[in-house]
Amino acid sequence: MDVYGLIGNPVGHSLSPPMHEAGYEALGLDARYVTFEPPADSGAEAIEAAATLGVDGLNVTIPFKQDVLDAVDPAPLAERIGAVNTVDFDGGTPTGYNTDAVGAVRALEHHDVSLSGTAVVVGAGGAGRAVAFGLADEGLSVRIANRTESKADALADEVPDASGHGLDSLPNLLADADVLVNCTSVGMEEDTTPVPADALHGDLAVLDAVYTPIETRLLQDAAAAGATTVDGAWMLLYQGVEAFERWTGEDAPVDRMNDQLRDHL
Ligand code: ATR
Repeated sequence: MDVYGLIGNPVGHSLSPPMHEAGYEALGLDARYVTFEPPADSGAEAIEAAATLGVDGLNVTIPFKQDVLDAVDPAPLAERIGAVNTVDFDGGTPTGYNTDAVGAVRALEHHDVSLSGTAVVVGAGGAGRAVAFGLADEGLSVRIANRTESKADALADEVPDASGHGLDSLPNLLADADVLVNCTSVGMEEDTTPVPADALHGDLAVLDAVYTPIETRLLQDAAAAGATTVDGAWMLLYQGVEAFERWTGEDAPVDRMNDQLRDHL
């Protein structure tokens, strides 16, 4: 039996176990996905312990995404982002990937969004960082807007072809943008949005990383403006799909994993 799982603290409400196990079942794989909650500051030790135990793959979430870099060989994108959310144990030093970045890209691709032109990323925290690098890797010009403008500027200095801005620049930035991704927590469990509704337009594709609620105020405003909308569960799905495919070497049964994920939201 193959063993995969998640380390984080807390991991209690993770949607990853049902999503991954639906994938194993659909493909007839003898595998399980379990959650582990090591104490804070023990991310690297947890990876070493998992390698010793013969665990096949781990997802990594808060607060361990940076700590585990010390225990893995990071793939180039994960190294640039400075955070790992997926570890593949295939003998030797485990490899660390950042599938949050690829998850956003694949969520947009699933909705036939053309990955060219200009993207506006709102937020410069962990999620904003991953998405900014991921979109820049696809060749988009990235404009980062953040409440604390200095953090947007600092991130933009690291990301190729990027610039940093405050939130008050959003209307200007969005006027000729192609893609908008909300990577702040604004809108989570509340009817608020980080983007003025009248700055949205029909030529935009809007991805909200927030998935509680699934139809955030931002996505409702985007739909009303005629934009293509992509909810946060797609990003969650595709970070998991990308990990699943790296671990198993199989094409993930995306529809089955998506159904399970949405059933558990
Ligand atoms: P994550 O890992 O989910 O990205 P994070 O690193 O804590 O979480 O980052 C949270 C992001 O949401 C930041 O960009 C934060 O802006 P600041 O850098 O100015 O703190 C943004 N954010 C959180 N609450 C916000 C609010 N009420 N309005 C605007 N931005 C907010």
